[in-house]
Amino acid sequence: MCPECNEITITVDTLEKTVELASIFAETIKPGDILCLSGDLGAGKTTFTQALCKALGVTEHVTSPTFNIMNQYEGRLPIYHFDVYRIAEPDEMYEIGFDEYLNGMGVSIIEWAPLVEVLIPEDAVWMIIKTTGETSRTICLRGPSEKLGRLTHEVIGH
Ligand SMILES: Nc1ncnc2c1ncn2[C@@H]1O[C@H](COP(=O)(O)OP(=O)(O)OP(=O)(O)O)[C@@H](O)[C@H]1O
Ligand SMILES: [Mg+2]
Repeated sequence: MCPECNEITITVDTLEKTVELASIFAETIKPGDILCLSGDLGAGKTTFTQALCKALGVTEHVTSPTFNIMNQYEGRLPIYHFDVYRIAEPDEMYEIGFDEYLNGMGVSIIEWAPLVEVLIPEDAVWMIIKTTGETSRTICLRGPSEKLGRLTHEVIGH
């Protein structure tokens, strides 16, 4: 991890590796954690979320909440899964009680988070997924070093 910019870059060459990374996150994720997902269409934001939910014990099928903005799931902790792709402006998020979810007892996962960046707390973890090939991705993680260290403990060998 770079101590100055709090950034970790992980490369995965298969879908299974993305799923594995999600399982590692699931081990230490805590109530109040906010995970902001960024990346082009088809980068793997929903795929990562599905794997994370499964690893947290969610048994129902996780789908992208593109039209209803948020779906809630119950795993070992509540999961608030947002997809803000279709919102016209960040203010719309107040109508669905975005703040209360972010401050709630669950973990918030936000697809297309850059569209509501002004509403995202400082201590959120950002995950930028770049497609580099059919099944390869470069995953860039940014956020407070304490959180990045906790979430990626196994990846970086602690
Ligand atoms: N290493 C990988 N990590 C994640 N997804 C992968 C990987 N390799 C292949 N894929 C495939 O890429 C696709 C990713 O689609 P997904 O719906 O998760 O993207 P998304 O970022 O949520 O897109 P959107 O912006 O449309 O919501 C899936 O079909 C998935 O199986
Ligand atoms: Mg998606």
